[in-house]
Amino acid sequence: MPDALELLKTRRSFKPVELLPPGPTAAEIDTLLTIASRVPDHGKLAPWRFIVFEGAARRAAGAAIAQAFAAKYPDAKPEHIEAERERLTRAPLVVAVVSRAAPHVKIPEWEQVLSCGAAAMNLVLAACALGYGASWITEWYAYDRAVLDALGLAAHERIAGFVHIGRRPGVPEDRPRPPLAEIVTRFPTR
Ligand SMILES: Cc1cc2nc3c(=O)[nH]c(=O)nc-3n(C[C@H](O)[C@H](O)[C@H](O)COP(=O)(O)O)c2cc1C
Repeated sequence: MPDALELLKTRRSFKPVELLPPGPTAAEIDTLLTIASRVPDHGKLAPWRFIVFEGAARRAAGAAIAQAFAAKYPDAKPEHIEAERERLTRAPLVVAVVSRAAPHVKIPEWEQVLSCGAAAMNLVLAACALGYGASWITEWYAYDRAVLDALGLAAHERIAGFVHIGRRPGVPEDRPRPPLAEIVTRFPTR
């Protein structure tokens, strides 16, 4: 179990194809989803939910992605359509984090969306804490209505991300991070 601060200071994403089997066990998936749902949530609305894709279900969902792709690009080559079918099989576990944010009498929709982002990030961090690698991506199919219908999303629901999880292939190279001087100001005291 990596030290929490070290994990937060060094966490990096992997590409979905780099995430190897075996994926998390059933008990670990419960742990991941329990942690993902333990986020700040103004009004206790749970403005998010999760869809788990494992094993053959990943390819079944991929069929809907391939079908939407073929409908969008009627001239697409068969190999491109087949590649779309494999979108969710790149990593052993994929969790769709779904925003259920909606107008509410008291809680701004924006705050519900932020809570959903926190849930996705908690999921990523929980996966890393369990020793796995993770990748939070959306890609085109997160915004395609036919795919969203096939995945069972209601009209007001949106995909915050498809979090891909699997065994880490090694230690990733870092990428530049914004210098604090560029993103932090201190409010003047007069
Ligand atoms: C909502 C959201 C959607 C993203 N979608 C993609 C995506 O479709 N493709 C991609 O390469 N990265 C995507 N990213 C970025 C990756 O999650 C990741 O942050 C980046 O590739 C590397 O940064 P890291 O190593 O600090 O995690 C997305 C990030 C967020 C927050």
